[in-house]
Amino acid sequence: QIESKVAALMRQMTVAEKVGQLHQISGGLHTGPASGEDARTQADIRSGKVGSMLNVKGVADTRAMQALALQSRLHIPLLFGQDVIHGYRTVFPVPLGESASWDMEAIEQSARVAAREASAAGIHWTFAPMVDIARDPRWGRVMEGAGEDAFLGSAIARARVHGFQGKRLGATDAVMATAKHFAAYGAALAGRDYNAVDMSQQQLFEVYLPPFKAALDAGAATFMNSFNTLNGVPATGNSFLQRDVLKGRWNFKGFVVSDWGSVREMVAHGYASDLADASVKAINAGSDMDMESYAHLNYLEQSIKSGKVKMKTLDDAVRRILYKKFELGLFDDPYRFADAAREKAVLADPSHRAAALDVAQKSLVLLKNEGGALPLSRDAKRIAVIGPLADARRDLEGGWVVEGDRARVVSILEGIRGHAGKAEVSYAQACGVGCTNSDGFADAVATAAKADVVVLAVGETWDMSGEAKSRTDITLPGHQEQLFAALKATGKPVVVVMLAGRPLVFNAIADQADAIVYAWFPGSEGGNAVANVLFGDYNPSGKLPITFPRSVGQIPLSYAQPSTGRPVTDEKDVVYKSGYIDSVNSPRYAFGHGLSYTSFKYSGLTVSSAEMSPSQQVTLSFDLANTGKAEGTEIVQLYLRDMVASVARPVKELKGFQKIHLLPGEQRRVNFTIDRELLSFFNSQLVWGAEAGDFKLMVGSASDDIRLEGALKLLPAR
Ligand code: IFM
Repeated sequence: QIESKVAALMRQMTVAEKVGQLHQISGGLHTGPASGEDARTQADIRSGKVGSMLNVKGVADTRAMQALALQSRLHIPLLFGQDVIHGYRTVFPVPLGESASWDMEAIEQSARVAAREASAAGIHWTFAPMVDIARDPRWGRVMEGAGEDAFLGSAIARARVHGFQGKRLGATDAVMATAKHFAAYGAALAGRDYNAVDMSQQQLFEVYLPPFKAALDAGAATFMNSFNTLNGVPATGNSFLQRDVLKGRWNFKGFVVSDWGSVREMVAHGYASDLADASVKAINAGSDMDMESYAHLNYLEQSIKSGKVKMKTLDDAVRRILYKKFELGLFDDPYRFADAAREKAVLADPSHRAAALDVAQKSLVLLKNEGGALPLSRDAKRIAVIGPLADARRDLEGGWVVEGDRARVVSILEGIRGHAGKAEVSYAQACGVGCTNSDGFADAVATAAKADVVVLAVGETWDMSGEAKSRTDITLPGHQEQLFAALKATGKPVVVVMLAGRPLVFNAIADQADAIVYAWFPGSEGGNAVANVLFGDYNPSGKLPITFPRSVGQIPLSYAQPSTGRPVTDEKDVVYKSGYIDSVNSPRYAFGHGLSYTSFKYSGLTVSSAEMSPSQQVTLSFDLANTGKAEGTEIVQLYLRDMVASVARPVKELKGFQKIHLLPGEQRRVNFTIDRELLSFFNSQLVWGAEAGDFKLMVGSASDDIRLEGALKLLPAR
């Protein structure tokens, strides 16, 4: 039915009006370089030359812009898109932080709340989730993704799409999701944003594309292409990615939006001779909507006339976009997302804060805890809260905050004060994140000396990670490590809370701190979440979704190492082995690492059958027991290794995980089903399938903490 409505409308449209549907402009804040054409906005909207706007938010503003669009000849409504990445009014942890929860329900709920708030504020479409796999923490945008792993990343992609789009696209509490950035943007050379990507087809299909496919299967309405070249061809003009894979093999029915100015940037890449050529190359390659390049607006009509772009190519792109406008119900009521009373009520819904606290707690990772430093005892009389980020609010929010209620962000200091009971809480900032002197240390050291325990909050500021925030040096900025050393010298236990959008390198702190909680940028409720964990009101369960290196020199570093003929088995013996003469190979903290206030025992692994034919399944089972004194949640992880294959396989691949909550003394049998699909990979002809032979099965608490091993033989197909 929508198809016929779209067709009827398209029969009335001129070529210029069709081109207008492909043109997207920013109406507010610029989230990319200015094109120099912004002054034309209002007149273009009125004359039907604009199909979509980004960065216009709130009922009043979106209404005003929609009213302009409705003055156009065919009254085609605008689509309003926005980077609602981790919340709208209520700020959730940054996506990498949320991913550390490994909690699909909580992640879906976070996206659901973001969608409720954004859609109540006139927004139809979020440019999220970012599903780029990222294995290089120099790249600032690791903050926006789900980390390094395709299996975990795919599960999270599904959860986020479901959360944003709800049960039905077109409901007024749902927004269209965007799987971005298609593709391989996370593998920018040297971790430098917007840089080229050069990778094998196998790696592309096995590591970088699966989360996109998962997002598509979950129903993602749109895709965004990316700034990078992939093996020499810009993603925006990449017909293999967009036509062959996405719209061909994967049969994607939604539309593709370019990234900001990425059509224009094909000229700078040396792939298009000018903007007119860039427009031709983008649309012919399957990039439908042009964000802020003004390429189609200025040149597409002419390219249709000259035959460089076929009418059916233009029609296909327009059809995809109009379909979504109908699906959202915008032709029935262009203002259906623009109700001021609803906006007010939804943005004030207190249940959203509760959801933010829930995810924030689940996202915190206890990296280290020695001598029972944590949880803090409520009998402690004096707690010194110190550091540049201890009373920060903006830095708890992270990047891409749309309409956050900053005044209501709970700082770490505030959270601790609210949870400390009778303990006396003192505070000293000591220095700023980037300070290059120790002028404020004396006061902080004096404060620490009077306390029973020190909580030190250090890390990155919110704007040190995110888009265009690549760093060559990912150690703690400024004199923060020196501040730690000065406090440690007092002899008091020092608990470090670290805020960051990426894995940082902090070797002295890792060696000497009594406890470390990695808090990412935890959002509006961050201070309460941190305090709950510090005082043991919440037993931490987060696990790292990305490897933490010891130094930049180890990057790229992933638990899923490709195999080598000269593996290092003993870190000390690296002569003529694949190691370093100045570092061990192992990371500082491995993928999947995260401690708890209780302990878990793994035992009794069984595999229901030692052999399996390709059409069968086996069940791997083991017992998990809570052997400590606190109730707690363990994220059990299943890894496997294909021992011999036609393509050498990684030494370990995540193939399953479960979150199990156990009371002290409780034990549960945990089961994983293993089938052919789980054993499959892309061979050198890029054919997906499993090869007969032996598989090593590993179950553990982290990728470097394997507790149980088993074996399975896949029999040849008969
Ligand atoms: O959605 C973003 C994208 O991730 C990076 N460039 C700008 C876009 C719109 O703000």
